[in-house]
Amino acid sequence: MSQSIQSHRKDEHVFLAEKFFAAHATAGFDEVRLLHDPLPETAVGEVAVKPALFDWQWPFFINAMTGGSKQTGQYNQQLATIAAHTGLAMATGSQAVALKEPALAETFHVARTADPDGFLIGNIGANKTPAQAQAAIAMLHADALEIHLNAVQELIMPEGDRDFHWLANLQTLVETSPVPVIVKEVGFGMTKEALAKLAAVNVKYVDVGGRGGTNFAQIEGVRRQSDDYQDLIGFGQSTVESLLEAQGSGLTILATGGVRSPLDVIKALRLGASAVGISGQVLHWLIQEGPAAAEAHIKAWQQQLPALLALLGAADLTALQQVPVVLSPALVSYAQQRHLP
Ligand code: FNR
Repeated sequence: MSQSIQSHRKDEHVFLAEKFFAAHATAGFDEVRLLHDPLPETAVGEVAVKPALFDWQWPFFINAMTGGSKQTGQYNQQLATIAAHTGLAMATGSQAVALKEPALAETFHVARTADPDGFLIGNIGANKTPAQAQAAIAMLHADALEIHLNAVQELIMPEGDRDFHWLANLQTLVETSPVPVIVKEVGFGMTKEALAKLAAVNVKYVDVGGRGGTNFAQIEGVRRQSDDYQDLIGFGQSTVESLLEAQGSGLTILATGGVRSPLDVIKALRLGASAVGISGQVLHWLIQEGPAAAEAHIKAWQQQLPALLALLGAADLTALQQVPVVLSPALVSYAQQRHLP
């Protein structure tokens, strides 16, 4: 199998994401408190966690990471097997490399082979053509397509794009895609202005992809072996700030970035996410403990989610929206300065 620069980059991303994985993320979930009601008047068995999104059974999913090299093809196969066993939706990493080098398509297609009936999401960049988008969808028989916005990452990569005129093309991609399109950031978050621009070009689903988990400024800085742009490591809006930005956007919001626990998932859902993506945490389980343990961790989250909802007195994800929440002074100040609802 070929190991072009692009293919090798996939292995480096995994290696560096895992090297910098922090068990405690800084995505803002610590700044959000859900209040305890000692009289929840619920039972764990009565609670439903199904989200109002596609036909998903669970309000969290494995988000885009792998494919494009031999090693990351194996991860796609393992992640898709876990997705099949747990009923989770899953996105592959960017398929751009396989559009360029068709021999690499198999490192993505393995996910469909491992999870024939699952909800699989393809992934491409915002500069791709409708024909490339359709090729990416066909490669996976994808049920939805993620389009990633990664201006910070491109800027830091010496070989990266320098042209960020993406909006008109996004409109074309949304209007020509045979499957739902999810526009996602990769870890630097969103603003309400960006969300309004996306809504204006008919985007319906946005993953706010906030700061606080996997950090591509850090990863690309190490790859280029340079301090250039390393002041961008703290740049961008955290996942929680991005969720505040998304309040009242009218879009269907997903949230990824620094999700480390079932309670983080619940907090993101309480702040308006319809579903929550996990990437670095799943990769960490997979690399450190192997596929069986990664699957067991996910099943544990699946047990804890209804238990936590019951604790909060919420019968389902709609009722969760009524649970009282207290934000840190820093978040309140953020919301005020940004004139958020
Ligand atoms: C990613 N991510 C990513 N996103 C994307 O849209 N296309 C991609 O190809 C990749 N590749 C990728 C590789 C690796 C190794 C990691 C860890 C992540 C970003 C990912 O989908 C997610 O948005 C961020 O990682 C933030 O979530 P976590 O990792 O903090 O849970």
